[in-house]
Amino acid sequence: MRLSVLGAGYLGAVHAACMAHLGHEVRVYDIDPAKVALLADGKAPFYEPGFEELLSSTLTTGRLTFTSSARDAIEGSDVHFICVGTPQQQGAEAADLRYVDSAFEAIVKHASCPGTIVGKSTVPVGTARRLADALSQDRTGSQLELAWNPEFLREGTAIADTLRPDRLVFGVDTDTAEKVLAEVYRSLLDSGVPVVTTDLPTSEMVKVAANSFLATKISFINAMAEICEVAKADVVTLSRALGYDQRIGPRFLNAGLGFGGGCLPKDIRAFSARAGELGAADAVSFLREIDKINQRRRDRVVSLASNIFGGDFLGKRIAVLGAAFKPDSDDVRDSPALNVAAAMHLKGAAVGVHDPQAINNAKKQFPTLSYYEHVDEACRAADLVVLATEWQDYRDIDPRVFASLVGQPVLIDARNALNHEVWIEAGWKVHALGRGNLEE
Ligand code: UGA
Repeated sequence: MRLSVLGAGYLGAVHAACMAHLGHEVRVYDIDPAKVALLADGKAPFYEPGFEELLSSTLTTGRLTFTSSARDAIEGSDVHFICVGTPQQQGAEAADLRYVDSAFEAIVKHASCPGTIVGKSTVPVGTARRLADALSQDRTGSQLELAWNPEFLREGTAIADTLRPDRLVFGVDTDTAEKVLAEVYRSLLDSGVPVVTTDLPTSEMVKVAANSFLATKISFINAMAEICEVAKADVVTLSRALGYDQRIGPRFLNAGLGFGGGCLPKDIRAFSARAGELGAADAVSFLREIDKINQRRRDRVVSLASNIFGGDFLGKRIAVLGAAFKPDSDDVRDSPALNVAAAMHLKGAAVGVHDPQAINNAKKQFPTLSYYEHVDEACRAADLVVLATEWQDYRDIDPRVFASLVGQPVLIDARNALNHEVWIEAGWKVHALGRGNLEE
């Protein structure tokens, strides 16, 4: 099939390359000519394991092209995917829909008919119906149809999540739209990926409900961590024991510095805002608590560091390991790691940050922090090492070697990612979140 993809960000670029990999002819439009040039040259504007390889191989087939002309991408395509961002509005909690609306308008303007517009962006429930109504009121005789097909890919595993998703969700008004989506995803459906076909608002709800659930699961275990800290209990063992219960499951139950990134934080806020607009604010008022628990974890790391230094950060050297909001990503949007680094810097510490991939992005957001290319440089003469993003590189550190490098062998493992016994044996004083048992 011939597909257009509007938006070459994380979602759009990965979706487009995966669709080309599945055999479709895909034309991608992005407003940013620099990004288009980079992608057309086979280079990824972000770090995602396996993406550059997939990009090169699909570009070679000639089935994937990038353009900064909306018309070139849209005209002649059968299906148009809206993959643009829906960031949080400046000074408000609601999602900013201007990119979705302008992508939709571009499609209506340039599409040859008949065709199907498929929304993948995360939007407030009711958006798809509004756009579908606009199509049905269009007097130009356009035979465009709207469907919603939310995306569940995670940064770091985006390709596997797209090619082998846990499920597909088709939000449709008609059988025709369902058939079009089934044709797009034919090979996935043939390989047994479950599909849930539903109406437009339910499909939008699936996405925000899934992200809200994941955020809740993380904040739940982090709330337990808060109690473990005062009750001298151990949240890692608690989490393991809870995870064996098949009704609960072990995933997204890792206590630590909490969630960040461009999705979970803004999605729960946008959901609360939308629920308020719909007169159902009480139904998700707990999401505000989820957000607060999440923010408190960042404060907790700063207060742990403050306790270690007897309340005085001045003249102290702190190495922060990790800047990305999660490992295997160079995304620093709402990164807990950078947030903590910046807070300790503000209190007067000399903070040196290391990250295997995210330094360039971090520098743009927090130019006053010091950045190091090598993790041992960041740790040299440090009075405190804070593990803030659980990259494999940090799990591989030999604590004996690093003990001789730092000024004081003191560690805060803010992700509960390291083997504390080994670190303690190597002479380190170890602090961690939710490990009341360590804080003797
Ligand atoms: C999230 C969802 O997981 C995807 O399904 C969704 O498609 C995506 O948002 C989106 O809406 O676009 P992502 O933001 O890439 O994906 O990252 P996650 O893997 O969900 O992690 C989010 C944050 O939670 C990270 O900061 C991570 O460190 C943190 N986290 C995750 C924990 O603190 N504990 C855990 O147990 C798991």
